[in-house]
Amino acid sequence: MKSLQGQTALITGASSGIGAALAREFARRGANLVLLARNRGRLESVRNQCANLGAGDIRLLEADLTDYPVLDALVPTLEGRLDYLVLNAGISQRSLALETDESVDRRVMEVDFFAPVHLAKALHAAGKWDHDTHIAATSSISGLFGFPQRSAYCAAKHALKGYFEALQLETGMKVTLLFPGRINTPISLSALEGDGKAHGQMDPGQAGGMDADRCARKCVDGIVRGRRQVRVGGKEMLACFAYKWFPGLFFRLAGKVSAV
Ligand SMILES: NC(=O)c1ccc[n+]([C@@H]2O[C@H](COP(=O)([O-])OP(=O)(O)OC[C@H]3O[C@@H](n4cnc5c(N)ncnc54)[C@H](OP(=O)(O)O)[C@@H]3O)[C@@H](O)[C@H]2O)c1
Repeated sequence: MKSLQGQTALITGASSGIGAALAREFARRGANLVLLARNRGRLESVRNQCANLGAGDIRLLEADLTDYPVLDALVPTLEGRLDYLVLNAGISQRSLALETDESVDRRVMEVDFFAPVHLAKALHAAGKWDHDTHIAATSSISGLFGFPQRSAYCAAKHALKGYFEALQLETGMKVTLLFPGRINTPISLSALEGDGKAHGQMDPGQAGGMDADRCARKCVDGIVRGRRQVRVGGKEMLACFAYKWFPGLFFRLAGKVSAV
């Protein structure tokens, strides 16, 4: 395991699920951490876990990623330069495209696409990262092809992939796109339904997904090895193969897979 002692990683969405697991994985490698999310209590619990695992300095940023004035005020308070910027926070969706209010489409795009782009630009403008920083962004298997009841989510995750691939091409810097399949996290609880209400249920597909710490280990391994993409999950990842090589089969079957 490569040591990241003395290196600093900022991780968004670090209060729960994959982000908390990524924080623990960076901690095991001795990194300094800047952990961002809205929920202070959950951030503090992740901080304690990371401290016990061997993290260096840990700073918590309690902020809504879509509250840009608050975010812009926080950015200059960060000390030093980031070695890793992990744009992971996100929300999902549980609603048919034509039954989804446009405000929900926009909210999912705001959290999952515009907010990470805003944060990356604000940090760059403040000199907090440069060409030698490694950026990782959590897209999704839904960022590789369409999936039912995820129209806005798929759109946002495709957008994230396109944006950060373009940035990589323009700058030549290291960018790793993470494409998790179904990971066992509470993401379905906060997923938005068509009217904007939280889904509020732990979906069976989610509960049966890969363990978040296992997912994070594979992601961080891929990041430190400089991989352009990390695809991680269970048998659902076979859909990537079907989409590429047997698109007819993919389009016959994917619409029938349970979306929850
Ligand atoms: N679980 C999966 O199967 C799966 C699969 C593919 C991709 N992903 C992606 O992985 C990432 C992490 O998801 P997860 O499964 O770990 O879900 P999760 O457990 O619900 O975690 C989501 C994280 O994002 C943060 N967040 C959400 N909205 C935010 C906002 N407006 N401002 C700041 N932070 C915000 C949450 O923190 P607070 O609530 O404390 O703000 C939380 O830490 C997401 O981008 C998701 O799309 C997940």
